[in-house]
Amino acid sequence: MTQNWFDNIYIKAKGDSNQVPWANMTANAYLKDWLNQHSEIEKNAKALVIGCGLGDDAEILAEKGFNVTAFDISSTAIDWCKQRFPNSSVNYVVADLFDLDSSHNWIGNFDFVFEARTIQSLPLKVREQTMEAVAQFVAPEGTLLVVTVTRDTPEEPSGPPYPLSLEEVDYFQQLGLSEINRNSYSEKNSRFPKRLRIEYRFQSKS
Ligand SMILES: C[S@@+](CC[C@H](N)C(=O)[O-])C[C@H]1O[C@@H](n2cnc3c(N)ncnc32)[C@H](O)[C@@H]1O
Repeated sequence: MTQNWFDNIYIKAKGDSNQVPWANMTANAYLKDWLNQHSEIEKNAKALVIGCGLGDDAEILAEKGFNVTAFDISSTAIDWCKQRFPNSSVNYVVADLFDLDSSHNWIGNFDFVFEARTIQSLPLKVREQTMEAVAQFVAPEGTLLVVTVTRDTPEEPSGPPYPLSLEEVDYFQQLGLSEINRNSYSEKNSRFPKRLRIEYRFQSKS
């Protein structure tokens, strides 16, 4: 999957979100549910949204009081976010997870990182690399919240998307993130039988 692959979908949609297969035009239901259970957000806590698409998850985090940065590899998606939310406090940025501009100073710098459906959108050959790239943003004692579909078999799925196996999911723990909570959801009428929401904490060793 290249930058062009994603950007082309947004370009071809020509502003019609029905043409973007993953665009729900509302915040992720499992993020909303998590936020409803966690009202204790510190003032100026910093949140990062990975592969933010059309911006709904970033916006709900901003509404809840986070200082939000949201990035996507697609410049068309980021322009679309800015058009949809002209008065937003979110810092929308075009950036490639695998080729970050060091001047952003994002590494280890976010109290809350939200990742939904970006890891699963990329093939298995870059799975560990993608998960490492996601994990690197979490500050000491910060939270990573991941929402993803999973698969039961070790074989490479014929994606996209490419659901994660449970073994792959566990790679976040090898990266120093402790699993705090895991919820599993079965969705009727979905082509993917299971979705996970996992909350991790980056517990610094010192
Ligand atoms: C399946 S969509 C999910 C969008 C959003 N997270 C959601 O759940 O609605 C995956 C998103 O990741 C973005 N993406 C893919 N590769 C990326 C990369 N290397 N760096 C940043 N964003 C990327 C795509 O442009 C796309 O918007």
